[in-house]
Amino acid sequence: MKKSNYAIITIIVLFASFIIAENNQKFSRKIIEAETQNKYNYYDNPQVCLGCHFEKFDTWKRSQMSRAYTGDFFQAQYQQALVDARRDEKVKGVKADCIGCHSPSAFKAGDLPPSSTGTDKIDSFMQQKGGNKLFADRGVFCDFCHTIEDFSGKTPFNHNYISNAGPGIDPKRGDLEFPWSPYHKNARAELFEDARFCGICHNERNDFGVWVKATETEYQEGPYPAKGIACQGCHMPPLAGKPAKMGPPRAEHKDHWFGGGFETFVRGAAKLTIGINKAALNPQEKIDFIIKVTQLSPGHKFPTGSTEERDLWLHVGVYDKEGNELDHIKIPKNPNDPNDKYFITTNEKVAYPTHSKYGNPIERDSLPEGDRLYHSSFIDSDGNFTYAQWYCAKEIENRLKLLEERIEQYTWNCPEKLSGQTVILRAVLNYRRMPDSYAKFLGIPARPTIEVSRDERILKISR
Ligand code: HEC
Ligand code: HEC
Ligand code: HEC
Ligand code: HEC
Ligand code: HEC
Repeated sequence: MKKSNYAIITIIVLFASFIIAENNQKFSRKIIEAETQNKYNYYDNPQVCLGCHFEKFDTWKRSQMSRAYTGDFFQAQYQQALVDARRDEKVKGVKADCIGCHSPSAFKAGDLPPSSTGTDKIDSFMQQKGGNKLFADRGVFCDFCHTIEDFSGKTPFNHNYISNAGPGIDPKRGDLEFPWSPYHKNARAELFEDARFCGICHNERNDFGVWVKATETEYQEGPYPAKGIACQGCHMPPLAGKPAKMGPPRAEHKDHWFGGGFETFVRGAAKLTIGINKAALNPQEKIDFIIKVTQLSPGHKFPTGSTEERDLWLHVGVYDKEGNELDHIKIPKNPNDPNDKYFITTNEKVAYPTHSKYGNPIERDSLPEGDRLYHSSFIDSDGNFTYAQWYCAKEIENRLKLLEERIEQYTWNCPEKLSGQTVILRAVLNYRRMPDSYAKFLGIPARPTIEVSRDERILKISR
């Protein structure tokens, strides 16, 4: 070999070891291991699909699916789960388990927990502002879903997908009839039009044997399967345009935004009706009335999914024309129901961010006290309320069932101070993705309140 060749090789070797050493400081070994990289590379990056399936990419990029790993809430909670996995044998599996659904390609590659996100060029997924992205950051992405062949066993749950991705370009599975693509082979798969496909990740049983997510099971128990409406029918509605730039025009082309606990889906998902048989009353008069809460549009219970965090609450009050609250009407306590306290808002410090044996409780609801709350309370093995689904030993819930009509009984003592006024009796149903107190604890922004529905009656108070 010529001398200059030796020089070049030496330079390359030096350069390579420099890169590896450099990377070693920022990343765990796994990500720089060739085998891990290869397995990650079994799946194409989403931007490979962008050129021909732009609308799919554009809607997916704005969805929670694309943030399933990078989302601030997931990241903060996963860090907590990792702390618990290290100190508690019973939950050591969560290190891998969370990733099975939130970053399935990292799970399949065995990069657990996924190597930390840095600014270095390991992978060029989406050259966005804020640096290069890592493989794990792809979350739940195109090529992962479209190479799912089936699920193992009879029930879809706990990421029991069977992925047929391997080296090379795998056939893309979907619902189209006679597709042809210059980039990939296709494979028709009935599963893609079936709710069980979604159940693979939307049903979850934790190490305590509790079903902490059961959206697909809830759906199967409702009226929609018989009507032929799957999750896709509501969450992936048809869009105008073609599924692929180069393909033929088709009757349908499915949205990939996967909207859920957001304004467009939540607003109107349930309806309120005030039942009161009087329009005029005297000061100091006591009046009974009801509020009917009707679950309308969700194909599962409302709320569903991350039910330990999602809250739906009914606020009832008396207001003046300007909207000032004159009196807050609280839901009466039910002494016959030992679980009643879980369904009435409180700001007591009784909620634990993880197992109660590991720390101090925070405020539970951060809402006006005394409102009816529809949600799931997760109870740990010491009997305390926890936000950590991995420690849920028992679920206590009162969520709205499909098309259910729930009746709430109220009593109002008209205060003397309102004599001679015309007031508005108003009931408002609100939804929120997580309590402000928990967001504060995790150090992430509080989530907005979305109004689901309201009803009003005008009441004349005599002098
Ligand atoms: C959570 C899994 C999931 C992800 C992520 C996903 N898809 Fe899909 N995709 C589906 C399902 C399910 C269908 C079939 C929907 C139906 O038939 O109701 C589908 C349908 C399609 C189709 C067939 C045409 C159509 O509109 O029905 C194409 C093309 C497609 N997806 C491309 C993509 C691309 C590109 C991305 C990434 C930008 C992506 N998908 C991300 C699940 C997914
Ligand atoms: C060079 C263009 C091109 C690229 C790149 C491309 N596709 Fe396609 N894809 C097509 C065309 C064309 C069709 C057929 C559309 C039709 O027949 O309506 C198609 C069809 C599909 C289908 C439907 C398959 C079925 O059987 O229903 C899926 C799913 C799909 N692509 C996913 C992907 C994913 C995921 C990627 C990225 C990894 C990707 N495509 C990249 C052009 C492309
Ligand atoms: C590979 C696992 C996986 C599959 C398969 C899957 N999902 Fe998801 N989905 C997730 C994860 C993880 C999230 C939560 C991401 C986050 O917010 O961190 C999610 C979020 C969602 C959301 C957003 C909820 C919200 O309000 O934040 C909807 C809606 C949804 N999925 C519907 C579906 C439907 C419909 C299907 C079937 C066509 C499906 N998913 C299949 C993993 C999956
Ligand atoms: C009949 C229409 C319909 C069907 C069918 C349906 N959904 Fe929904 N889904 C909704 C509506 C409306 C909402 C918003 C209200 C709510 O949160 O329940 C929603 C919300 C969600 C959320 C967000 C919950 C939250 O608060 O974070 C997820 C996740 C979800 N659906 C998944 C699914 C899955 C998985 C299936 C199938 C097993 C499915 N949905 C079937 C209409 C539907
Ligand atoms: C079997 C699949 C699965 C597993 C395992 C799983 N998740 Fe999820 N996760 C989901 C799905 C699906 C959603 C969306 C539900 C919804 O929006 O209501 C979700 C939602 C979340 C959210 C809410 C995100 C947001 O922005 O509102 C957080 C936080 C979260 N998961 C954390 C975790 C942690 C931490 C673990 C491990 C202890 C974990 N998940 C394990 C499927 C899973």
